[in-house]
Parts: sequence; structure tokens; C-alpha cells
Amino acid sequence: MRTHPFALLGLARLVAHPSVVAAVSTSVQVKWIDETPTSHTGTTFGLPWARGRHLANATEFSADAGTLQSWVTAYWPDGSIKWSAHALGGEESVKEGYTVTASGAGNSSVGEKARRQTGGRNGTAIEISESTDEIVVKTGKITASFAKQGSDLVKKIETASGKVVGKNGHLVLLSQSGIPEYEGDSTGIQHYKLSSKIYNTTVSSEGDGSARALVTVQGIHSTPANSTGSRGDWLPFTVRFYLYANSDAIRTIHTIIYDGDSKSDFISGLGIRFDVPLAGEELYDRHVRIAGVDGGMLHEAVQGITGLRRDPGASARSAQYNGTKTPDKSTWDTRVSTRLQWIPTWSDFRLTQLSPDGFNIKKRTKAGQSWVKIPGGTRSGGLAYLGGATVGGLAVGLRDFWKKYPTSLDISDSTTDQGSITLWLYSPSAEPMDLRPYHDGLGQDTYAKQLDALEVTYEDWEEGYNTPYGIARTNEAFIYAFDSTPSADRLSELTSQSNEPPVLYAEPSYVEETGALGTYWKTPEATSGSADAAEIESHLDFLIKFYHDQVEQRRWFGFWDHGDIMHGYDTDRHQWKYDIGGYAWDNSELSPDLFFWNHFLRTGRADVYRLAEAQVRHGGEVDSYHLGNFTGLGTRHNVQHWGDSAKQARVSTPVYRKTFYYISGGDERTGDLIHEALQAEKGFYLVDARRKVRAPDVVYKPDPTALYLDFGTDWAGVAAAYLIEWERRGPRWEESRSKLLETARTYPDLKFGFVTGEALYNSLTGTWSPPPTDPSNNGTASISHLSAVFGVLETLDQLFSHDPTLPSAFKDAWLDYCYYYSASNAEQLARYGKSFGKVNLRQGHARLTAYAARERGNASLAARAWDEFLNDNSADELGPDDPWSTVVWKGSDVLTQVDEADWITTNAAALYGLAGIELLALVGVSEGGNGTGNGTLVGR
Ligand SMILES: *[C@@H]1O[C@H](CO)[C@@H](O)[C@H](O)[C@H]1NC(C)=O
Ligand SMILES: *[C@@H]1O[C@H](CO)[C@@H](O)[C@H](O)[C@H]1NC(C)=O
Ligand SMILES: *[C@@H]1O[C@H](CO)[C@@H](O)[C@H](O)[C@H]1NC(C)=O
Ligand SMILES: *[C@@H]1O[C@H](CO)[C@@H](O)[C@H](O)[C@H]1NC(C)=O
Ligand SMILES: *[C@@H]1O[C@H](CO)[C@@H](O)[C@H](O)[C@H]1NC(C)=O
Ligand SMILES: *[C@@H]1O[C@H](CO)[C@@H](O)[C@H](O)[C@H]1NC(C)=O
Repeated sequence: MRTHPFALLGLARLVAHPSVVAAVSTSVQVKWIDETPTSHTGTTFGLPWARGRHLANATEFSADAGTLQSWVTAYWPDGSIKWSAHALGGEESVKEGYTVTASGAGNSSVGEKARRQTGGRNGTAIEISESTDEIVVKTGKITASFAKQGSDLVKKIETASGKVVGKNGHLVLLSQSGIPEYEGDSTGIQHYKLSSKIYNTTVSSEGDGSARALVTVQGIHSTPANSTGSRGDWLPFTVRFYLYANSDAIRTIHTIIYDGDSKSDFISGLGIRFDVPLAGEELYDRHVRIAGVDGGMLHEAVQGITGLRRDPGASARSAQYNGTKTPDKSTWDTRVSTRLQWIPTWSDFRLTQLSPDGFNIKKRTKAGQSWVKIPGGTRSGGLAYLGGATVGGLAVGLRDFWKKYPTSLDISDSTTDQGSITLWLYSPSAEPMDLRPYHDGLGQDTYAKQLDALEVTYEDWEEGYNTPYGIARTNEAFIYAFDSTPSADRLSELTSQSNEPPVLYAEPSYVEETGALGTYWKTPEATSGSADAAEIESHLDFLIKFYHDQVEQRRWFGFWDHGDIMHGYDTDRHQWKYDIGGYAWDNSELSPDLFFWNHFLRTGRADVYRLAEAQVRHGGEVDSYHLGNFTGLGTRHNVQHWGDSAKQARVSTPVYRKTFYYISGGDERTGDLIHEALQAEKGFYLVDARRKVRAPDVVYKPDPTALYLDFGTDWAGVAAAYLIEWERRGPRWEESRSKLLETARTYPDLKFGFVTGEALYNSLTGTWSPPPTDPSNNGTASISHLSAVFGVLETLDQLFSHDPTLPSAFKDAWLDYCYYYSASNAEQLARYGKSFGKVNLRQGHARLTAYAARERGNASLAARAWDEFLNDNSADELGPDDPWSTVVWKGSDVLTQVDEADWITTNAAALYGLAGIELLALVGVSEGGNGTGNGTLVGR
């Protein structure tokens, strides 16, 4: 674990004049979260800005970097910049960090001027040209053309010297209509081969467009018209290609949405294929490189001249091994040069990573001949290169290759004029992907039976709801072009960058001061100084390390699974409950995502970032829906990510992806997911989240003007999406703002405010009205332990700080909820005429108490928050008396050696982590505190 490398860097903040139009300049440092890369192929990052500091229409950005392109990704309501994005072109020599300076001159025309002047001052700038049938992007190092129709997304990739090193880049899908249930019985199963069909291709380049171009291709997998037995088009895709100035790499974000029937549409292979022109290259000067383990690289030539009985000469051998042009054949020992026709040439190479623990490689001279095994290894870096010493070549690398097994790499036809590389995101060598339900329903044909089954397996099952229809997966790949075969070292470096692309982040204390991502976290330095704080920090570190290690030890990997963690632990089997109904995959239950992201925000730690980023790419995609009735909703925890019948916005809520969205400079795929979350409004009336537990006298009307919603598990998710849409001024931003303002105006009219729990929501206007059980608003007190544990506090806090002019009654209503949830039964009774009894998840809710304490400046309430945090003593908390250590299990007790912490559930870990971070920030702890709950209010 490393601390963020900023500690010594100060921030320059120069305010020349206090008036709004005066020249103001702010300089912000950004640094690589990992070690400084030796080179990079272009990157985008985001920076927050304090409210009112820089008007979006009068700010110019600059940086001590070659090519910088800047644009605004979010606005404060006053028109000042809330978040900016910055794209940096590729660099061969890389600094430890950069200083980005925002300057505003008191001249309203500067904004437009800035657009033309920013970036591209040195270095090469991106050039884009567009015609009716293609888009061509020049980076200075490569020229890539993208088709607007047909099958090939990438028509060709050319190096600066004019060599075409990749062409006909397209997607491939193998699918089949069934799976043999017994070995060898494939009767009646149809097999289909499909390839990409483009719907549309667009190019965008924000700001001055100097450093980056983004080409987005949408389409579907299709059977060519001339083939028989067509399945018809299916599996829509969106593929984004990011190209940076001065870079020979194309970052590729590949998304598919599963739109099949899980019982008859099986994916048996999913890939990206490029042709690689090899004409004119001698077979012995053609090179194959495949990434092995920890930077390892397979060195092969299509026709090998090493290891032979006769030696062609050391310089020829070493050139071939190193990938450089061999000396002229006339200089070789003739005992070899006259006998090349007897040396086999290798057409095809195949690496298969069918498990996270091992890969095989093999090669063959041609189809119809036996494969020859090449000694394999454990975890391949997932990059393959094909090319020649003089004609150049192409490498393709898949991020998290082994973590997303089953994957494979194919190099084919290397002996011909046109070889190819196929990157298999789902390996055709694996068993077909099986998305069918894992059980047959067990006869649960009524809600009563389903609820009874929930009592024992905790699974909330319902026929038809356990569907993968509409789930998505996004993969990240990199395509690299070369004028000649690069050194193995270079490919090794690119392999590691493909797996952990370099990331820039600002100093955590700067991000905190801007208030752009919540006021409920502070850096460890800012909250240190007491024994209690040190103890909490050590526990946060313990939990991060624990989940990091569990991912590895429990093999939480795979095409669909990577990025999720498990929910509950079976202490008898020393095994997470991977097969127990509602306890298996976690699907963001109680917000571990927010724990991880908040911890990253405050520390800038790379290990935390990677854990959280994998979750972003999982939860928003696999655990959420993108097509059909459930669009915008997510799925409660289950053995299969999509298996549970509770479809709710509490899982799809973009509050879990917001930090990534902004600090990545507005990752466009995540942007799509946020838009989809807005569509949960519609999901709410197509799917009644509480259909199984409604009082019989309440009929849920599928009426968009009167949806019976829970403020926390339903509305908060769509509210998080409204807020981001407002901030980023997306296509629905005015509507989103208006709905949030209307909610802020009408929600306090509910007699008991948030304590009402569920009420009627008009999704067309944002207006709330009393629940159908209390039409005259006499006051209904109904709290649920779940309402406030899916990001509602974080969403509301961000909303309050986004627009401080919201009616105070709205915030008061929220602070009442925060105060009363864990207040004494007597206080509850006095306020609501009803005691809440013994409430659940007190430790997690301590952060609500702390929030009210800070907002009200109430020291005794702060002490109450610490007491709730430290003395919950329920099953869903972690406390000072827990072991905070793991136990090793090995030998015949377990399948493989594991570290066990049977005192941890992911619910408890998520809530401890979040509440720990937030209490430290909101109410601090007293100097010399000792974990007894005697914290006193520090600061405000
Ligand atoms: C731009 O190029 C000039 C001359 O090559 C160099 O002195 C200067 O430092 C460069 N500026 C940046 C921002 O890289
Ligand atoms: C710049 O933005 C501010 C705030 O939105 C606005 O008041 C002002 O009129 C704008 N100026 C120009 C020239 O557009
Ligand atoms: C591209 O096609 C898809 C599918 O038909 C459609 O949803 C999308 O709006 C289109 N995009 C553009 C930019 O035309
Ligand atoms: C199908 O059409 C494509 C493009 O026209 C052609 O290249 C291919 O050879 C054809 N395949 C068959 C089986 O006819
Ligand atoms: C091949 O590479 C090795 C190690 O990188 C180096 O020592 C050797 O000189 C190289 N040979 C040639 C011919 O480039
Ligand atoms: C979608 O929801 C509508 C309205 O509830 C329903 O009639 C329809 O059957 C649903 N479609 C699917 C595929 O579930």
C-alpha cells in the first residue's frame, strides 16, 4: 500500500481581484496513482472546481504538458465549472505529474478563444476527417479509418510511414441454439457464425479537439446474407475507439447487451478480429509474440531458424529472436539457406485461458494438421502481436484477460499474405456461456410460497424475473500499431499498460475542498490525531486488503463475475455462500462501492481504485438492465447476478459510478449507464418493487403520475441520475433539475417527511403526495432499515451542496429522518406518535446521526453517533472487539488454502467502511479517544 504521492506539493491559488469578472487563476496538481509510467499512449482525467470559481464560458485551461484538450463535464447551477475533463496526448517521456491551470480573464469572449488556443501548442494534434462512408483519424503516429456501414468497424490502421498494419477490424459472434446435456449428444443444436453489422458511426472531439478523438460505432451481430441457417441479428454492441495525439494505440471500449433467450441463445465465442497484411515479408522475418506471465513474452517466428541441426549464423538467429530483420540470406550458412523448404512454417497460434489459474498455447502448420503444444503458464497478460520486421505489425491486448476468463487469443494464417489476430472476449474453446436459471423454480408458484422460500434460502424468486435479457458487459481492449516488430520489452510494457492503464488523479485534499463530490469525507490526514481515528483507519485498511485478497483466493473472476464480491459467509464450509439464494453475489448491497470510492477519494490509493473500478464495470453493466421492462433497474443479490426477482434502482443507482464518471473525465459508457438510470422512472410502473409484500388493500397502479415509491430504495437511485444529468447538462438536464426542485418543494408537505417511507411520486413532474394509505396526510410513520443504506445520504448531501437555495424544509425533513431513525423510542413516540422499536443497521445509520449532528452543530448528537457506531452489537456491524484478523484454513478442511474472517459479512463491511469514513469527516473524534464512544465534536 502506498500513500498518495502528493504530500509535499502545495497548491497555487491566485486570486488577483475579488470581483467576478476579474482574472482568476487556479492551478491543480495531478499525479499518477501508480508509479510514473515510462511512457503512455494518451489518457483522460477529470478535475473538480469549487463553486463560483471559474465561469464555464470564461475559462481557459493550460498545462505543462505537450498536448492538452480540456472541456467541461459538469456545471454548478451558477454556470461555473464543477468538473472538467482533460485529455493528454501520448508521451515518450513522462512526468511524475502535471499542473493544470484554469485561468479566467475578465472578457466574455475568452471562452471561445480558449477553445481555439488550448492544447496542441507543441506535439501533434489530432486530425479528423469525415466523409459519407468513413471517418479518418490521424494521431501523428497512426491513421485509422472507421467505416459507417458494413461489417468492418475499423477499415484500416496505417503507421506514420504509410504501412497498413491492420485492416478489416470486425466483431465475431459464435452462437448456438442449445447445449448438449450429455457428452457427445448435440442432436438438433444449430450453430451460427455472426459478424458485426454497423448501424451508425459517429466521431466526437470535445473542447479544441487537439488531443483526443472518440469514434463510436453502434450495431448488432448479424449473419452474412449469403450463409444458410440464419439465426437473425442479435447481440447489439457499442464499441468506442479512443485515439490520442502522438499515440500509436487505440483504446477500445466494447459493450454488448444480451438480448437473447437464455434457453436457446448461447454465446459460444465473442471476439474482435483484425487482418494483418504480411505480403512481402519473408516467413522467417514474420514474428509472433504472445504475452505470458508477469511481463513474459513468447518469441516465435513463422519459420524458425533457431535450434536447427545446422546454424544459419548467430546474427540471423539473434535477429529473429529479437524481432529485427535478419541479415541478407546470402550471408547465412548455406547448409540452412538452401534447405528452408524443409523447415515447417507455422500458420496458427492459439492461447486459451479457460480458468484464472492456467493457460495453454499451441500452434500448427496449417488446418488439417495436428496442433503442437507450446509450454503454457498461469495467467497470461492477454496481448498478441503478429507482424514482420519490415512490414510492421499489430498487437491487440485485452484488459483483465485472465480475470475475465474464458478468453483466448488466436493468430491465424500467418503464412499467407494476410494473417489475422482474434481477441476472444469469450473463448470458443470454452463450454458455451450458460445464462439459464440455475434451478427450475422449485414449485414456487405463489407469492406465499416464494416468501416462504425466502425464509430459508433468502432468495426472492419469481418466474420470469430471473432473466439475463437486457444485461450488459463492457470490456476494454487496446490496439497497437507498429512500423516494425517492436522489442519484447516494449510489448511487455504495453501489456502491463493494457491491464492497468495509467490514471491521473488530483490531490485528495484539493478534491475534498471543492465540495464537488460530497461533504461527508475527508483525507486521513485531516481526520487523524486520535487513537480512535487511527484504529478506524487501520480497520478500513484491513477491510480493503481483505476484499482484495478474497477476490484472489476465492477466484471471484470470470466473464460476468469479475468486479463483484460475495455477500455472506458459510462458516461451516469455510466458503462464501456462492450457492445460497440471496447470499451469493453481492450486487452492491448496502453500498460497498461507496465505501471503496470514498476511500479512494480520500487516499488516492491505486489498489482501492482498481477494486472500485472493477465494481463500476460490473454493477452498472451486469447487475443492471439496459433493455426491456427492467431498463434502469438493477437486481438484488443472488447466485446469478440477474437471478433475483427484486428489480430495483437501489442497485442501478449511478451514485455508485459517479466518482469514476467524473474523475475519468466523463467515461462515455458510464455516461450511458447514467442515462439508463433515468429510465428507471418507467421501470417503476412496469415493475412494482413491493408487489409481494403490499397490504392487500393497496393496489399498485401502473400510473407514472402516482407511483408508490420508497424514497431510499427507489427514488434515491433516479434522483442520483437526475442530479448528474443536471450537473452535466445532458439532454434531460432541465427536466431533471425541475423534478428535483419539485421534489424539494413538495416532499416536506408529507406530514412526517422522510419518515413516511413510501409515498406517491409523480415521475412526470417530481411532485410527491401522501401514500394511498393516508390520502389526507394525517401522518404515516413507516421506516425501513433499507431506505437509507443505498446512497441516499450521499445523493442528498450532493444535492444540498449543488443547490444551496433548495427549500430549507426539505433539508429539515431529511435531518429529522437522520435524527429520529436511531433516537430513543420515547423521542420517536413524542414526535411521530409511534416508536420505531428496535431498529436495524444502527452502525450504518450512525452516519445519518453524524450528518444531523454536523448540520445542527449538536455535540451531544455527535456523541450519540459515535455510540451507535461503536456499540451497535448486532449481526450487521463490526466493532472494536471483533478480531480484525484472518485465520488460515488449509489441508483437507478446504479446497485450497484461504484466509477466513468468519466475523465479516459484506453488509457489515460496507456499512462499517462507509460510516467510519463519514463519521470521521462529519463529527471527528476527540484527542486521545479510546473507542469507548466518548467522541466529542471537533470543528463544526
Ligand atoms: C514546446 O516546445 C518547445 C520547443 O521545442 C519547448 O521549449 C517547450 O518546453 C514545449 N512546451 C511544452 C508545453 O511542452
Ligand atoms: C457566462 O455565464 C454566466 C453564468 O451562466 C452568464 O451570466 C453570462 O451571461 C455568460 N456570458 C456569456 C458571454 O455568455
Ligand atoms: C445508432 O443506432 C442505434 C440503434 O438503431 C440508435 O439507437 C442510435 O440512436 C443511433 N445513433 C446515432 C448517433 O444515430
Ligand atoms: C459471402 O459473402 C462474402 C462477401 O460478399 C464473401 O467474401 C464470402 O466468400 C461469401 N461466403 C460464402 C460462403 O459464399
Ligand atoms: C537481442 O536482444 C538481446 C537482449 O535484449 C541483446 O543482448 C542482443 O544484442 C540482441 N541482438 C540483436 C541482434 O539485436
Ligand atoms: C413489460 O411490462 C408490461 C406491463 O407490465 C407487460 O405487459 C409485458 O408483458 C412486459 N414484458 C415483458 C417482456 O416482460
